Amino acid sequence: MKPSIFRPHFPNPQSPNSQSTNSRSAFPFVFRPMREEDIPELMEIEQRSFPTPWPESAYRHELRYGTDSLFYVLQPQKEASSETWWERLKGLWQSPRSPILGYVGIRLLSDEAHITTIAVHPDWRGRGLGKYILLMAIERALKYRVHFITLEVRASNRIAQNLYTDLGFQFVGVHRHYYRDGEDAWLMRLGPLNEGAIVHLQELRRAVEERLQNLQI
Ligand SMILES: CC(C)(COP(=O)(O)OP(=O)(O)OC[C@H]1O[C@@H](n2cnc3c(N)ncnc32)[C@H](O)[C@@H]1OP(=O)(O)O)[C@@H](O)C(=O)NCCC(=O)NCCS
Repeated sequence: MKPSIFRPHFPNPQSPNSQSTNSRSAFPFVFRPMREEDIPELMEIEQRSFPTPWPESAYRHELRYGTDSLFYVLQPQKEASSETWWERLKGLWQSPRSPILGYVGIRLLSDEAHITTIAVHPDWRGRGLGKYILLMAIERALKYRVHFITLEVRASNRIAQNLYTDLGFQFVGVHRHYYRDGEDAWLMRLGPLNEGAIVHLQELRRAVEERLQNLQI
């Protein structure tokens, strides 16, 4: 995607993901682009999260060739601020890398972004991470002038449906027998993403960030 098609989004000055280095260092999680070396670790989450998981090759293919796709992971932020540079360097050598707690995929269509996948590690669910990941993904998608966010969800997946309706997604239709095992998919949509809707999403994000700020990791 070319930067020239970006539309101004509405940065939140208090957000840990805005440009303020001070506030960012205090937030306990990092939302960053997925890399190929993340795939083996996230496959464990994938296999524990979906009845018909994507294979590793699908993620590799998307990361290498998916020019219209964005993928992100969420990790705990490593504590570094109170250490000297030498301690931080030693830490890089010695400590295991931060685990991946969740991830999300987005496909950019003309004026729409489609959530292709989202999952949180089973041990980390129910604490607000899924909501945070989805809100961050929507924020990233907004930079590409999208006006709607769409997704499919299994008809039986009440937890995910609750997450989506909490954020303002609405049910817009059913794809009969959409999944390989024959289950129907609900098609859900968020938007139009006008300024009022974006401000509301920012408020939701601020609330979940506050919740995550106090999470013990
Ligand atoms: C769906 C999923 C990503 C949610 O992640 P999570 O970190 O557990 O979600 P959160 O803690 O942020 O919860 C967000 C909302 O989801 C709903 N929710 C979460 N857990 C729930 C539960 N056990 N029962 C009912 N609703 C639940 C609530 O509306 C919650 O909002 P609240 O915390 O304000 O009550 C996670 O359950 C998951 O990975 N599931 C397997 C993969 C999957 O189904 N992905 C969706 C494919 S469409």
